[in-house]
Amino acid sequence: MNEFYQKDIISIKDFSKDQLEEIFASTDKIMQLNSSDRREICKGKTLGYLFYEPSTRTRLSFDSAMASIGGNSLGISDISSSSTQKGESLSDTVRIMSIYSDILVLRHTLDGSSRFASEISEKPVINAGSGTEEHPTQAIQDLFTIKKEKKKIDGLKIGIVGDLKYGRTVYSLLYGLGNYDVDVRLISPESLRIRSDSTYEIKKKLDFTETTDIEEYLDELDVLYVTRIQKERFPDEEEYLKVKGSYVVGLNMLKRMKDDSIILHPLPRIDEISSDVDKTKNAKYFEQAEYGKHTRAALLGMILNENGF
Ligand code: NCD
Repeated sequence: MNEFYQKDIISIKDFSKDQLEEIFASTDKIMQLNSSDRREICKGKTLGYLFYEPSTRTRLSFDSAMASIGGNSLGISDISSSSTQKGESLSDTVRIMSIYSDILVLRHTLDGSSRFASEISEKPVINAGSGTEEHPTQAIQDLFTIKKEKKKIDGLKIGIVGDLKYGRTVYSLLYGLGNYDVDVRLISPESLRIRSDSTYEIKKKLDFTETTDIEEYLDELDVLYVTRIQKERFPDEEEYLKVKGSYVVGLNMLKRMKDDSIILHPLPRIDEISSDVDKTKNAKYFEQAEYGKHTRAALLGMILNENGF
């Protein structure tokens, strides 16, 4: 039996380096299969999604990943049109969804929501974003992108810039990078530094330094991972306005970076990367979005097939 069979994907912390590498190898395999063989992998299987927060890429990439391996998906992407509006609890909604589908994908405003759902659901649950806590499939996609574009992860210098306090993709990426031998530079306004409750845990596995000055390490970075300031998570608008637009990666900055450095972003981008960077060879955020479809297809294929694919 493959070890991912029927496994919940709640936190990237649950994955060892070997397991991550196994997902990457399965992703490579998916990308090489012809489309008719690929459609056999989850033929007749159903993915159910519940999105209590807005999403473009994550939901659509799960949808299109499932279609690419022959399955189908159904679910709720606009919670205001569901029975939640009538007062239905998350646990009842999850229970119902797990009757109609073979696997559940949940995005919710609360930390701990996916762990909670996995305890109720009879079907495996994938965390597609739980509050400010984690977004494990995004981290798998981010690590896979780094590996594809830089041909390795070990030995790289990686800068992560933006909202490190509220950005859940940052935490999952840091926990994931903890499996590798990398040097990390965390760049943020003082008020958006990574949360101290996570620092201790991250420090156990990863070397990082913190700065407010994006220029400081620019010329040594192999990867610059840019994140959006998470406006919706600020307790008040005033605080957001103080840090809005703190960093904008533009062509001038790019000129100071290594020629073969890459710029990543989980998207959506607001104003933190100027659009003239898009056409440079360093911009890899759209490729990153495309890899996300394949990494998700690989995960679904492994979770839903006892003997893998
Ligand atoms: C991210 C998220 O939802 O955390 N989006 C995504 O899934 N690609 C990042 C963000 O919203 O800034």
